Amino acid sequence: MSRKVAIIPGSFDPITNGHIDIIERSSKIFDEIIVAILINPDKKYLFSIEERVEMIETALKNLQSINNVRVESFSGLLVNYAKKVKSSVIVRGLRAVSDFEYEMQLTAMNKTLDDNIETFYMMTNTKYSFVSSSIVKGVSGFGADLTKLVPKNVAEKLEKKLKEE
Ligand code: PNS
Repeated sequence: MSRKVAIIPGSFDPITNGHIDIIERSSKIFDEIIVAILINPDKKYLFSIEERVEMIETALKNLQSINNVRVESFSGLLVNYAKKVKSSVIVRGLRAVSDFEYEMQLTAMNKTLDDNIETFYMMTNTKYSFVSSSIVKGVSGFGADLTKLVPKNVAEKLEKKLKEE
């Protein structure tokens, strides 16, 4: 049987503990996980694509329970990237009803573009149901303890970056 490769796509600006939870749980279900960061020159991010790749790689390295996850970046359509890496599975986290509409659009669009792609949704651990990259950025830079929200290496980077701004 062929290895089942799943993609977890996103902006990850920056990765949060909610994302890590989804990655960790998916890595037990699929043979291989690719965390795929979108390169979107039209959008302004706090962290560069290189910084986001490095932050996720470091966070995953610190979690010794995971060894079947790799981190990549992609540009253009997700369905084309999926074809390139020979995957037909996308995994996304769902935190609350408020996520549903956007996620439904995303999945419906991907399905329209490529009917072979299946998207699986995993409910985010309730501990993280309020955590988003944006809300974390909102409280960063003021010395708050962010380690309940993001991996330790990310908390350090956030504090440094926002103090510089
Ligand atoms: O973390 P995000 O920003 O909610 O992730 C959104 C992402 C990157 C998964 C989505 O914007 C995406 O796949 N963009 C690539 C362009 C594409 O394929 N668009 C069609 C689906 S809407």
